[in-house]
Amino acid sequence: MLPAFASADALLFFPAWLHVYHLAQSIFSPAAHVPRPERADVTQFVKFDLKSVFDIKAAASGPNDTRADFDGSGRSYPVELLPNAATYSYNGIEFDLPPFHDTSSKDTVCSAGQTLTIPNGGGRFQSFNALGAAIWPAGSGPSPMISNVMLNFDDNTSEDMTIIIAPWFSSGSVFTGPIYVPYHYANKTLDYNLTIDTNNTHVHYSTSSIRSDKNLTSIALPPPGSNINFFSITLLSADASIENTSTASPVLNVQAVRSTTKWFDNSTAAGAGAQIIEVTINNLFLSRCTLRNCKDAEPDLLFKL
Ligand SMILES: *[C@@H]1O[C@H](CO)[C@@H](O)[C@H](O)[C@H]1NC(C)=O
Ligand SMILES: *[C@@H]1O[C@H](CO)[C@@H](O)[C@H](O)[C@H]1NC(C)=O
Ligand SMILES: *[C@@H]1O[C@H](CO)[C@@H](O)[C@H](O)[C@H]1NC(C)=O
Ligand SMILES: *[C@@H]1O[C@H](CO)[C@@H](O)[C@H](O)[C@H]1NC(C)=O
Ligand SMILES: *[C@@H]1O[C@H](CO)[C@@H](O)[C@H](O)[C@H]1NC(C)=O
Ligand SMILES: *[C@@H]1O[C@H](CO)[C@@H](O)[C@H](O)[C@H]1NC(C)=O
Ligand SMILES: *[C@@H]1O[C@H](CO)[C@@H](O)[C@H](O)[C@H]1NC(C)=O
Ligand SMILES: *[C@@H]1O[C@H](CO)[C@@H](O)[C@H](O)[C@H]1NC(C)=O
Repeated sequence: MLPAFASADALLFFPAWLHVYHLAQSIFSPAAHVPRPERADVTQFVKFDLKSVFDIKAAASGPNDTRADFDGSGRSYPVELLPNAATYSYNGIEFDLPPFHDTSSKDTVCSAGQTLTIPNGGGRFQSFNALGAAIWPAGSGPSPMISNVMLNFDDNTSEDMTIIIAPWFSSGSVFTGPIYVPYHYANKTLDYNLTIDTNNTHVHYSTSSIRSDKNLTSIALPPPGSNINFFSITLLSADASIENTSTASPVLNVQAVRSTTKWFDNSTAAGAGAQIIEVTINNLFLSRCTLRNCKDAEPDLLFKL
């Protein structure tokens, strides 16, 4: 069941939000700070074990720690400020954290088309969720990176899933992410003799939908040169939100709700615009109707949204 939480404003903007969701979910609209998002009790995840593909050390023990090189230009995250726990929860999703604090272990995979096999032969999923960050080649500058993750299904078909991820730091810290550190170790040669760059620095979250009507057997990370590094990847199962096991199909429900700093149409003379609320819906693909034709099929659903 969908909780009847949403305001009338959210109803108006929901279709527009869906439209931009895949490309811009959280990147371009820093979340306003809300104490705790409403969320469903989602517990069914597949967390990839990335140990075998980690090929970079992101976390440095100090400015002279040459083992760490997150961006290929010698810059790195300060390990003392990164979480030292096995798991991390964000937006209702649980992630395994990499071994940031083990100075002898790599903790990051630099995307280069690596194939990751789904455990137990495959399964049905509704979303790809990652902790990571975009980097950029020396001579270029911070910007979000857009690329494709290849999804491989058990009927031998494949399709691209677009992801977008924010740069790990940027001047003015335009892009905020779930894990924040107030500085990172710099490369003196490139960074005006600085060993510490005090631009706000983040680990970012990125999510994209996966079609849940097919059995996913593996994914391939974005191709070489895409400048996307990952720390952790979790797939959310399509049936994660089945609440009533006697119900045949997955239940449409709400995973997360958050307010944003975006406003809808503040420019009209009619008056102030309304705040845009982002709502993450689970199992939308399997629901009996689409939002466009929902009215006849499920008046109750539209009413509650
Ligand atoms: C780091 O290296 C610089 C020389 O490049 C040196 O001056 C400094 O003392 C070193 N710092 C540490 C903590 O080893
Ligand atoms: C710092 O940048 C310079 C210039 O691009 C490069 O030659 C050097 O290897 C970098 N340092 C590290 C530690 O990567
Ligand atoms: C997905 O496909 C694999 C390989 O054919 C199979 O082992 C697995 O049981 C399937 N899983 C589901 C949920 O259909
Ligand atoms: C997928 O490809 C494999 C290997 O070529 C083949 O054995 C299998 O029959 C194919 N499955 C389908 C559903 O086409
Ligand atoms: C960096 O330091 C060196 C040696 O102290 C100095 O010669 C150079 O001008 C400095 N570069 C910048 C960009 O400040
Ligand atoms: C912040 O980053 C920008 C762009 O990389 C750089 O030019 C600037 O020196 C940095 N600022 C500080 C305070 O480190
Ligand atoms: C689960 O669904 C069945 C069929 O609609 C219903 O009879 C039953 O009461 C439900 N159980 C719970 C715990 O909601
Ligand atoms: C939009 O209007 C609301 C209500 O007047 C105001 O609180 C908000 O700051 C405005 N947002 C922008 C981006 O102008």
